[in-house]
Amino acid sequence: MKKIVIFASGSGSNAQRIVEFSRLNTGSYFVAAIFCNNPHAYVIERSRQLEVPCYLFDKTRFNGNDSNSVMAQLSGINPDLIVLAGFLWLVPEKIVNAFLGKIINIHPALLPKYGGKGMFGEIVHQSVLASNESESGITIHYVTEKYDDGAVIIQKKCSVSKADTAETLAQKIHELEYHWYPVVISQLLEKS
Ligand code: GAR
Repeated sequence: MKKIVIFASGSGSNAQRIVEFSRLNTGSYFVAAIFCNNPHAYVIERSRQLEVPCYLFDKTRFNGNDSNSVMAQLSGINPDLIVLAGFLWLVPEKIVNAFLGKIINIHPALLPKYGGKGMFGEIVHQSVLASNESESGITIHYVTEKYDDGAVIIQKKCSVSKADTAETLAQKIHELEYHWYPVVISQLLEKS
């Protein structure tokens, strides 16, 4: 069976959805671990409830090469795909290169619009609303050593109305994410 790991920095609702989907579709893939860079993130509690091992790390371990490093953990697991889901740090070049074409991210807007450093979560939705966009959506893309830069795998759109707030737009985006991210992961693994 194909194996993935998830990187998350915050709430982890996408991570939870991906784990639940993997368990509904036996034979597709399983989530070997959740990697988290934020000791206060709710995703740590979710991983405990879901009984998925959680590996907490800091910048030193992210950039390191020794036996405690993220790189060593990843090499031990040898995942078929690394899935970033609400993960807010840039991935070091050596990890990108070691897993070339095997790291994907989801962004809560239609890249290249509203991407780049500092563009995450609610800030993205507020920017979309401030620009009076009539649509937004999600972008699933490959990860490079730059923010929101790699080749697009899929984009899905939703409408933005005058009545939308950052909160209602976030809900629409989350619905798209929860539906499409687990499915796209499955499709990519079938091809790999
Ligand atoms: C998601 O909407 C994801 O697209 C976004 O953070 C949210 C995390 O929610 N990611 C970014 O903005 C990356 N630039 P979650 O922790 O509940 O899955």
